[in-house]
Amino acid sequence: MSIIEFRGLTKAYKDVVAVNNLTAKAEAGRITGFLGPNGAGKSTTLKCLLSLATPNSGSALIHGVPYQALVNPMRQVGAVIESGGYNPSLSAIRNLEIIAAAAGIPDARAVEVLKLVELLDVAPKKVKEFSLGMKQRLSLATALLGDPEILVLDEPSNGLDPIGIAWLRTFLKNLAHDGRSILISSHQLAEMQNTVDDVLIIHKGKLITEGSMPDVIGIGTLEEAFIRLVEAS
Ligand SMILES: Nc1ncnc2c1ncn2[C@@H]1O[C@H](COP(=O)(O)OP(=O)(O)O)[C@@H](O)[C@H]1O
Ligand SMILES: [Mg+2]
Repeated sequence: MSIIEFRGLTKAYKDVVAVNNLTAKAEAGRITGFLGPNGAGKSTTLKCLLSLATPNSGSALIHGVPYQALVNPMRQVGAVIESGGYNPSLSAIRNLEIIAAAAGIPDARAVEVLKLVELLDVAPKKVKEFSLGMKQRLSLATALLGDPEILVLDEPSNGLDPIGIAWLRTFLKNLAHDGRSILISSHQLAEMQNTVDDVLIIHKGKLITEGSMPDVIGIGTLEEAFIRLVEAS
């Protein structure tokens, strides 16, 4: 079953067509890599999916409806879009409690999600004292507050060191193993080859391929497949 669906999604900024008639889907219970070079239109697509940007035409749907039509969005979809949205002078745990309270989620869940991302020992630290890697984990913790079945992650490995990237890979696999569906964007093809089940590849706002990882790469690497597909498109 498709949990996320883009139907002819188009989004332009003045003279730049960031997303051009994108039709694609992500299936339930899978990790779907949303891949493409910098500037391909990944973030714009995900912003449309989360109703943070308005499409010029077409639609981006979750369970067949736009994000803003979801009854309980934080409990259905967790998102990591860009770091920020925290009060830097407050502790990590206080920030999470504030976000949880606004969504009607009990305080105790803040402790649970900090534990999940292995930040519990630094929970009392102010967010402004966090490293980039710690902030990325805090974003993941925030996304998990509502215990959502769907996660939408925009380049969550940006700024992580190799240990952080390995940690993230295992973390995502465990989340998927729990039955969650994950849509993760990245420009790091080699890393994604080891992480995702299905791929959507975009280039200059257009879909260039969609399918399971083995079907898309054939023999060789994802990078080789990407170059082949771009040249053919
Ligand atoms: N707010 C904006 N205003 C103008 N142009 C934008 C804006 N956001 C993105 N773009 C442009 O849209 C294109 C796609 O950007 P983006 O969706 O951020 O790509 P990606 O996330 O794949 O790197 C780029 O050419 C970018 O410069
Ligand atoms: Mg981006």
